[in-house]
Amino acid sequence: MRNIVLLACTALLTLALCNIIAVTTDHVERALAMKRRSNPGPTSLLIPSINTSQNEPIQKHPSLPAQLALDNKQLAIITFAKGASAEQIGKITLPNKQRYAQKHGYGYYNFAELSALPLDAQGMYFTKFRSILATFDMGYEWVLWSDADALFMNFSVPLLEFADPLYDFILPVGEPANKMYAKVPNNGHFMFKNSAWSRAYIAYILQASSQGHCEQYGLINGWLQACDRGVFWLDDQGLLVWTQQKFGRHVTCHTKHVSFNHFDSEYPWYNEGDLVLHLPGRSLPDRVRIFETLLAILDLESGKLDRKDARFESVRMDNIHHQPAANVRLEMEAAFESLGWNKPCGAHEGNPDVFMGATKSQTQ
Ligand SMILES: *[C@@H]1O[C@H](CO)[C@@H](O)[C@H](O)[C@H]1NC(C)=O
Ligand SMILES: *[C@@H]1O[C@H](CO)[C@@H](O)[C@H](O)[C@H]1NC(C)=O
Repeated sequence: MRNIVLLACTALLTLALCNIIAVTTDHVERALAMKRRSNPGPTSLLIPSINTSQNEPIQKHPSLPAQLALDNKQLAIITFAKGASAEQIGKITLPNKQRYAQKHGYGYYNFAELSALPLDAQGMYFTKFRSILATFDMGYEWVLWSDADALFMNFSVPLLEFADPLYDFILPVGEPANKMYAKVPNNGHFMFKNSAWSRAYIAYILQASSQGHCEQYGLINGWLQACDRGVFWLDDQGLLVWTQQKFGRHVTCHTKHVSFNHFDSEYPWYNEGDLVLHLPGRSLPDRVRIFETLLAILDLESGKLDRKDARFESVRMDNIHHQPAANVRLEMEAAFESLGWNKPCGAHEGNPDVFMGATKSQTQ
């Protein structure tokens, strides 16, 4: 029996691998074709100020939540739900994000409703970084980016638990045992601390995303090229990895890697009691079905699932006998530490000026 399951897994894994490689190649070809068609020329991209700026229109927008009095500006959850599919799934997930934020006194903003923010030339993937800068401008200490296709499942877990003050950027990545995705981010959820370093890094990300060329570094996990002929793998996903390759400790000493199970679990690799479930790369009907079924059998306050309900089978996690979610997280953190993945900046590491220099030389 065990062998049959293992065989099936191997077959599935190979299939998944082939798909990923096909998708990656497709993605690069498509992006290159688009580039050729639209004759890029110099992109005029507005790079937000690295310093605090005024965002009056955003602050005064009437769609801001009414709970601002409760909001102590320690953390804001922000998203951007635009387009038919995101808006449709947003009917389920946006009220969920807002309720979770409200419970903990965090801010909540859907930047698609805030007209003051222009869309980037590259599309929505990079709009998230502008939204983060705008949220810094509002005075928040920490910002969680949250994709529209993600649901908070255990309201008892406070996000601030993951806001480690020794770092500026908290990034969920594949765990060490995951040979394909070890240290590869998903970018559906990550947290930035409002700091001079974060501003400089994000300004650099926006700059690099528009430059149309990039140095090529070694393959990650033996297959992933972060930037291929000027095209970043899955947009900001490849870009983040690429900045780690380019700047090394100047980026990684500010970055705390955590597991997906911390706050970006992906179906079906989730645990009962995890904070977030994210559904990247699925069709809208699939997303709606999974979230609606979960919400029907889930107690959001405790994160407990009603496993006796007949509907549970259709949304069950791959590892049904997992340890308590908090233990899984601690175990992962210990594994990351032991591999040296997380080590805060030493005295002469992590100066944000490396980005200023890089930005300047590219704009000339
Ligand atoms: C940001 O602030 C610093 C120090 O206050 C100043 O030297 C610099 O010129 C400012 N940069 C921008 C882009 O406004
Ligand atoms: C939800 O999170 C809380 C706080 O970490 C934890 O005590 C609880 O066990 C979690 N729920 C489940 C079902 O694991």
